[in-house]
This record gives sequence, C-alpha cells and structure tokens, in this order.
Amino acid sequence: MDNVTYIPQPDRYEVMGYRRAGKSGVLLPEISLGFWHNFGENHDEARGLEIVHYAFDHGICHFDLANNYGPPNGAAEERFGRYMKRSMYTHRDEMFIATKAGHPMWSGPYGDWGSRKSLVASLDQSLRRMNLDYVDIYYTHRHDPNTPLEETMQALVDIVRSGKALYVGLSKYPEEVARKAYAYLDAHDVHCILYQGRYNMLTRQPEEVIIPQAHKHGVGFIAFSPLAQGLLTDRYLQGIPEGSRMTTSSFLRPEALTGELVGKLRALNVIAARRGQTLAEMALAWLLRDERVTSVIIGASSVEQLKKNLRARENQQFTAEELAQIDAVLLQ
Ligand SMILES: NC(=O)c1ccc[n+]([C@@H]2O[C@H](COP(=O)([O-])OP(=O)(O)OC[C@H]3O[C@@H](n4cnc5c(N)ncnc54)[C@H](OP(=O)(O)O)[C@@H]3O)[C@@H](O)[C@H]2O)c1
Repeated sequence: MDNVTYIPQPDRYEVMGYRRAGKSGVLLPEISLGFWHNFGENHDEARGLEIVHYAFDHGICHFDLANNYGPPNGAAEERFGRYMKRSMYTHRDEMFIATKAGHPMWSGPYGDWGSRKSLVASLDQSLRRMNLDYVDIYYTHRHDPNTPLEETMQALVDIVRSGKALYVGLSKYPEEVARKAYAYLDAHDVHCILYQGRYNMLTRQPEEVIIPQAHKHGVGFIAFSPLAQGLLTDRYLQGIPEGSRMTTSSFLRPEALTGELVGKLRALNVIAARRGQTLAEMALAWLLRDERVTSVIIGASSVEQLKKNLRARENQQFTAEELAQIDAVLLQ
C-alpha cells in the first residue's frame, strides 16, 4: 500500500465522549474499535483502512488488537502496521493501541498462555508487526492456571519498566485470580487500568462480581463483543445473511440462533424502536448507561455499520420501565 495523506476531521473529539479507565490518567472513547474479525486476510485491506479512518474521524482513538487476530494469526497486527505506516503514524500520540498475548499463537511450548518467556517474546513480535515502538496497553489475554500468577504479573511489571507498554490489563481472568493480580501489580507500582470482559445483553455475568470488583480496585471495565458478535443487531432477525459472521467464522455458529433467541431479539427490537433506536444502538447504549463501563469495543465489517453504531451515544438514558421491560425479555 502506498502512503497517503490523511487529514482527520478537525471536530473529531467533539463528537465522542471519553471516560476514565479506572483510577488512571487515561481517558478512552466510549466506543472503541476491535480487530478480532474484519482485518484478516479474508477481508479487503483498503476497506479496513476506510473503517479505521472513519473511526478516527469520529473520535475513536482506541484500537484493540491481539497477537492472534487474523486469520491467520498475526495478520490483523500486520495490517494495522501497514495502516500505521500508510497514514496513521503522524497521529500515533493521539492513539491508544492495545495488544494481548495468552491464546495459541505459535507452535511449541512458548507460543501460548502466560509465561514470562511467552509474554515478552510475543510483545516483541507484535511491535514489529505493528510498526510500533511501544503499545499503550498490554493485556494478558487469559489466565494461565499452570504458570504462577507472580510470574505472569512480574512479566507485565518488567514490560512496563522496559517501556514497551505504558499500561497493563487483564482479560477474562476469574474473579479470585483478578483480585490477586490487582494486588500484585499495585504492590509493584504498576496499577492495572483495565479489565476486558465479554459483556452484552445476552451475557450479563460481569455485572455480578467482575465489574464491582474492578470498580472497587480502581480498574476500568471494558466490554468486548458488546453486540454479541452481531446477534444484538438486525443482522439475524430474518434469517442468516450470506457474508455475515455466522457464515464466515467458527466463533459464531448457526446453532446459536435458536427460535427462542430470535424471539428475544425481536422483542428487544420492538423496545429499541419505541426508544427511537435500532437494536444495535440500544444494545450499546444499555452497556454505556453504567458509568463503570469505560468503553465498549465493537467490531464492524463496514463503515456503514460503524456509522450506525456510533449513534448509540445519542441516547444512553433508560427509564426504569424500559430497563424492566428489557430484563423481562432477557429473563424469559
Ligand atoms: N479479550 C478477548 O478475549 C476478546 C474476545 C473477543 C473480542 N475481543 C475484542 O472485542 C472486539 C469486538 O468483538 P466483536 O467483533 O465480537 O464485537 P461485536 O460488536 O459484538 O460484533 C461485531 C460484529 O457484529 C456485526 N455488526 C456490527 N455492527 C452491526 C450493525 N450495525 N448491523 C449489523 N451487524 C453489525 C458485524 O459482523 P458481520 O458484518 O461480519 O456479520 C461485526 O463484525 C474484537 O475485535 C476484539 O478487539 C476481545
């Protein structure tokens, strides 16, 4: 890809809200952009850059990656690296870039989980792929039950000291381990600023312990798959469209789309329409109504989807009656 001159919208920071990541100096956009899908070799590279530019033009300055995003593993980071080189590099200081390690990445005993060896080597690879000197936040992507927690946490501490990551975060850690991890990091003067977990209208477990626990420890909660991979949009209300994630990815299977679920989605869609929102807008607004949620990381396979989802910010207030109606549908 050739380098291009890209001049972002001058009003970009006026059209987005920013929230503090726990007790830290970092403000993140209420809506962040994730690279798990839509940026692998099975998606058009130029179209991906249009999505990134549109996001940045609208105040999305937080981009969430991981070593294994693709397909194949590493492809999303490589692509992101080309975007950096092509048009984004001059805006590096305006961007908050995340990557992670902890899921299978390369073969052999060091390409997975949470050893010091794996985390340090993986971050070096990620930096090379992304054409970066440092990432803004480095996550341990999942808890490794076979590596001492102290080893994983000390690796994060040392990575921060080395300057290769400015902040650290946890993803999908069980509550008991998260509590110890927060304490270890604090004791070593590297405060954990974000806990990243799956949270959406169909997956509400984080409400029980993880979000209150993070809040108590001054850690921001950032929600991934806020649209349940597209289920909480109009995508599957009338069947399974060709080209949708359900037809292209093993992470969202047609078996998930039961008659019962479609019934719930349609009922939620009716509530959303009464609020003057689409189902996707309501699903994102419903998460953002909780101020303990620092940001929601959405995926988008087109600029149109991103554009629509950004409208969620316009109405984040819910009446008690609306919340009760939503609960009634979800608890049916
Ligand atoms: N820490 C972790 O373990 C972890 C795990 C998963 C994800 N994440 C992060 O979270 C990010 C987001 O996850 P996600 O992609 O599952 O998020 P999501 O926002 O729940 O789902 C995104 C998908 O929904 C569909 N969609 C989005 N907006 C739509 C609209 N307005 N109308 C119709 N369909 C729409 C698109 O799929 P199609 O158009 O392809 O059908 C899109 O790719 C990831 O990229 C990653 O950064 C982290």
